[in-house]
Amino acid sequence: MVSRVIPVETFDLVIFGATGDLARRKILPGLFRRFRAGQMTPESRVIGAARTEMDAAAFRAQTRAAIEDFVDPAQRQAETVEAFLSRLDYVAIDARGTAGWAALGALMRPGVVRAFYFSVAPGLFGDLAERLHRNGIADTDSRIVVEKPFGRDLASARALNATLAAHFDERQIYRIDHYLGKETVQNLMAVRFANMLFEPLWNAQHVDHVQITVAETVGVGGRGGYYDKSGAMRDMVQNHMMQLLCLIAMEPPYHFDPAAVRDEKLKVIRALDPVDPADIVRGQYLAGAGQPGYLADVENPASRSESYVALKVHVSNWRWKGTPFYLRTGKRLRARASEIAITFKEPPHSIFDDVQGWRENVLVIRLQPNEGINLMVMIKEPGPGGMRLTQVPLDMSFAKALGAEAEIADAYERLIMDVIRGNQTLFMRGDEVEAAWAWTDPIIQGWEDRGDRPQPYDPGTSGPEDALMLMHRDGRRWREIRE
Ligand code: BG6
Repeated sequence: MVSRVIPVETFDLVIFGATGDLARRKILPGLFRRFRAGQMTPESRVIGAARTEMDAAAFRAQTRAAIEDFVDPAQRQAETVEAFLSRLDYVAIDARGTAGWAALGALMRPGVVRAFYFSVAPGLFGDLAERLHRNGIADTDSRIVVEKPFGRDLASARALNATLAAHFDERQIYRIDHYLGKETVQNLMAVRFANMLFEPLWNAQHVDHVQITVAETVGVGGRGGYYDKSGAMRDMVQNHMMQLLCLIAMEPPYHFDPAAVRDEKLKVIRALDPVDPADIVRGQYLAGAGQPGYLADVENPASRSESYVALKVHVSNWRWKGTPFYLRTGKRLRARASEIAITFKEPPHSIFDDVQGWRENVLVIRLQPNEGINLMVMIKEPGPGGMRLTQVPLDMSFAKALGAEAEIADAYERLIMDVIRGNQTLFMRGDEVEAAWAWTDPIIQGWEDRGDRPQPYDPGTSGPEDALMLMHRDGRRWREIRE
C-alpha cells in the first residue's frame, strides 16, 4: 500500500535556532524527507536564522551534513539533496538586538504561508515574537511553533502563554509534543473511533486497568544539564505520557478537529485525581555495563532528580471510575519499548470446567519499535482430550500489514506539515499545558517538601524493585519490557 502524499501550500519557514541540535537532528532532515516525498512544493523555502555569522552556502553545507547523518542513504539521492538545499537561505540574527531583522524581512514573500519555528530557549520567545511584529514580518495569518519544555511548572507555563498571547492568537500558536506526531499514537484514535469493536468495551465496566510504558535504553547522555533540572516527571510524564493518557481516556470528540479533540483531552486532565505519594516510585540508574550512573552523567553527586518514575493514576469520571492507569517511564532500562496495554476484565461466568489456561484479553498498542497492534485472545488448545484454553495473539505489525512502502514518517516532519496546513489538532493548546502542570506541580512539590530521594536501580533492568510492588499490591503485574 503506497501512502498518498498531498502537497501542502507553498511556504516560507523560518527556523530560529537553525544551527542547534534539534534543527540538525530532526527539523532539517525531516523537511528534506517531506521534500523528497513531494509534500513540500518546489517554491517553498526554509530560512535558517541563528546568531552564528555565516552565509547561505555555509548553512546549506551544514544541512547537507545533517541529511547525511540523519537520513537513510536509500532516501537521499544526490540530485534530490541538491534540489532541496537550493530552497535554503540563511540570516544571522540577534534575537535580543536589531541585527539581521531587516534582512529577514526582505526575504519574506507575500502570498505564501509564513511559519516561524522557535527552536530556541523559552527565554527568547518573547524577544522573537515582539521583533517579528515590530519589523512587520509576522502577520495575523503567520504561525509560530514552540517546543517543550513549555514551562517547568504552572506559574512559568502561564507566563510563557501570556508572553506568546501578547503577540499571537492561540490559533497561530503550535506547541509541539512530538509524541502526538507518532504514527501509532494517531493510530490509537483510529483504533478507537474508526472501529465498532473496542469502544463499547472502553470503560471501567470492562477494562481492568491500563498500562502505559515508555522505556528507553539510553541514559541522559550529553543532556545532563537540562535533564537534571527536570527529571522524568517533567521531561516525559507531564507532556508525552499525559498526552497518551488523554488519547486513551478521552470521550469520542464529535469531529477530528482541533477544538473538539483538545476539548476532550482537557476534560481528562481535569478529571485526574491528585496522586497519593504511596502510588509513585522514583528511581535513578546506577553505573553498569561500562556506562556511568545518573549522578556522574549529570555531574551532580547530590542530585535527587529521577530518571525513572512509575505511578498509578485515577481518572475520576463516569467512564473510568475504578480503572487505574499505571504509567512508567525510565532511562537505561532493559529495552527500548513503548506501548499501551489495555487489560480487559474476566468474563462474568465461565462455562468451562478447566479454566487453568485462562488469561485476560489484552489489547497492546506498540508505539515503538515494531509499531503495531496485538490483541491477546483465548482459544481452545488444539487437539483432542477435552476443552483446554490457551491464549494466542492476533498480531498485526504495521510494516507487514501495510507493506514495505509504508515508510513511517518521523513525528517532526509530520507535525511541521500540519503547521503549514494550519491544522492544530495534534498540538497542545495553552489551557491543556496549564492543566497538566496544575496536576504535576503538587506531586513534584511533595517530593521537594519531603526531601524524597529516588531509589537506585541497575541499568538493563525494569527499574526499581518498588515499582513492581506498585502493581503487585493491587494483584496485577507489569508487562515485561522487551522490544
Ligand atoms: C524527549 C525527552 O522529549 O523525548 C527525552 O526530552 C526522551 O528525554 C525523548 O528521550 C523520547 O522520545 P522518543 O521519540 O525517542 O520516544
